[in-house]
Amino acid sequence: MKFFVDTANLDQIRDAQDLGVLDGVTTNPSLMAKEGITGQNNILKHYVDICNIVDGDVSAEVIATDFEGMVKEGEALANLHEQIVVKLPMIKDGIKAAKYFNDKGIRTNVTLVFSAGQALLAAKAGATYVSPFIGRLDDVSTDGLGLIAEIRQIYNNYGFETQILAASVRHTMHIIDCAKIGADVITGPLSSIEGLLKHPLTDIGLAKFLADFNKGN
Ligand code: E4P
Repeated sequence: MKFFVDTANLDQIRDAQDLGVLDGVTTNPSLMAKEGITGQNNILKHYVDICNIVDGDVSAEVIATDFEGMVKEGEALANLHEQIVVKLPMIKDGIKAAKYFNDKGIRTNVTLVFSAGQALLAAKAGATYVSPFIGRLDDVSTDGLGLIAEIRQIYNNYGFETQILAASVRHTMHIIDCAKIGADVITGPLSSIEGLLKHPLTDIGLAKFLADFNKGN
């Protein structure tokens, strides 16, 4: 299972990389804006900065919503760095663009996926990754993890190689549940990954070991 962090914050990406378990980064226009990165040149430079920190795939999202625009933007993004994966919205032209890029050997991530049917189309188009947003589904009283399970079953039925990238992960239990279901990748805040470290019995046990060691020294 791959771990991606969902941020454009370079400090957080460095911290995640330092932990030694990071496989990639996902970004989106909102995450870029949150870091104050605006303007085409600054955004492109920021993607390169991220690629230079992380050892893995970096999803960079197109802004265009028409096929020609997505192709032009996606090609420019893919040319920036070999680690870039072109992120495309789950709309008709996004699916056409995913097929186009797949035929050219350029990797894609189809984003804003909220149904099994959308995920089926993304796989048919040859997307490298499909991003179902589980947290946003949970937010509207819909079963985000249930969607991951449905997509897993469909992809297994037909041997689709598209990787299920569980996105909009909000907390540590999302990661554990995604691992049980068989998501290929999760992307979330670093805090959700660091939450996997924690157990009170580990802390109590370590404190006791250290105290016992100190008694004899
Ligand atoms: C996925 O690639 C998105 O960037 C992301 O996971 C959205 O998460 P949010 O619902 O926390 O904004």
